[in-house]
Amino acid sequence: MSLAGNVALVTGASRGIGAAVAKALAAQGAAVAVNYFGSEAAAEGVVQKIRASGGRAVAVRADARDQAQVEIMAATVKAQFGPIGILVLNASIGFPMAGILEYPWEAFQAKLLGELGAAFHGCRAVAPQMIERQGGSIVAITSGLARNPGWGFCAHSAAKAGLEGFVRALAFELGPMGIRVNAVAPGLTLTDATAHIPEKHKQAAAVHAPLRRNGRAEDVAEAVVGLLQAGFVTGATLPVNGGGYVF
Ligand SMILES: NC(=O)c1ccc[n+]([C@@H]2O[C@H](COP(=O)([O-])OP(=O)(O)OC[C@H]3O[C@@H](n4cnc5c(N)ncnc54)[C@H](OP(=O)(O)O)[C@@H]3O)[C@@H](O)[C@H]2O)c1
Repeated sequence: MSLAGNVALVTGASRGIGAAVAKALAAQGAAVAVNYFGSEAAAEGVVQKIRASGGRAVAVRADARDQAQVEIMAATVKAQFGPIGILVLNASIGFPMAGILEYPWEAFQAKLLGELGAAFHGCRAVAPQMIERQGGSIVAITSGLARNPGWGFCAHSAAKAGLEGFVRALAFELGPMGIRVNAVAPGLTLTDATAHIPEKHKQAAAVHAPLRRNGRAEDVAEAVVGLLQAGFVTGATLPVNGGGYVF
C-alpha cells in the first residue's frame, strides 16, 4: 500500500510513539492529522517539524475516549485533507499501577472503557471514510503486556488484550471492504510514559533482549509503517521489543 498521497490520523500524536509515527508517515508522503488531548504546544511542534521537512500536517484536539469529539475530528480531517485512509490508534490511556487486591474498581473500569472506547470510536468514525475511498489500513498500538504479565499491570494487560481481540474482530469484518486491521505490540519503549521506571529496570530489560537495548519511539514507528505497507497482512500483532518477550 502506498502511503504517499494518503491521509492519516494518528491519535495521541503530540508526544512519544504517536509523534514518531506522525513524522514517519509524513516522511512517506502522507498528509497527517496530529491528534492531541492536553499538549497543544507539543502537537503544534510536531506539525511544524513535518511542515519544515516539506510534509503536510495539522494538529487536531480531541479526547480519544469521547465519541462526539472523535467524530468531529474525523470530519475536520476529511474536510482539510480528504477521506482518511490510515488510522493509528495510539492514544495512551493512563492507569494506576497496583496489585489486584488493592486495585480500585473505578480505575480498572476507566482503563478498560478508555482503551476500548478510544479504539471503538476511532474505527467507527473513520471506517466509513475508508469504505468511501475503497480501502484503508488501521494499526492499533497494543503492548507486550497484553500477553506477558508484569506486576501492577492487570488493568493495562486486560485492556491491551481486549484491544488485540478487537483488532482481529475488525480484520475479519472489514477485510472484505478492503480495510486491513493490525496491531503493533511494543515492549518497554523510552517515552514520557516510561520516564518514571528506574534505570536499573530499563537496563535489565535491555540485557534480556537479544538486541540489547530498550525500544525507541522511532522503532515502533518503523514497524507501523511496515505494517501499513504490507498489503496482504491483516489481523496480525507485530511485537516490537528487540526480541525481549518479558516486559
Ligand atoms: N512506552 C512504552 O513502553 C509502551 C509500551 C507498550 C505500549 N505502549 C503504548 O503506546 C502508546 C503510546 O504510548 P507512549 O509511551 O508514546 O505515551 P506518552 O509518551 O505518554 O504519550 C501519550 C500520548 O497519548 C496522548 N493522549 C493521552 N490521553 C489521550 C486522550 N484521552 N485522547 C487523545 N490523546 C491522548 C497524549 O496526548 P496529550 O499529551 O496531548 O494529552 C500523548 O500524545 C500507548 O497506547 C501505550 O499504551 C507504550
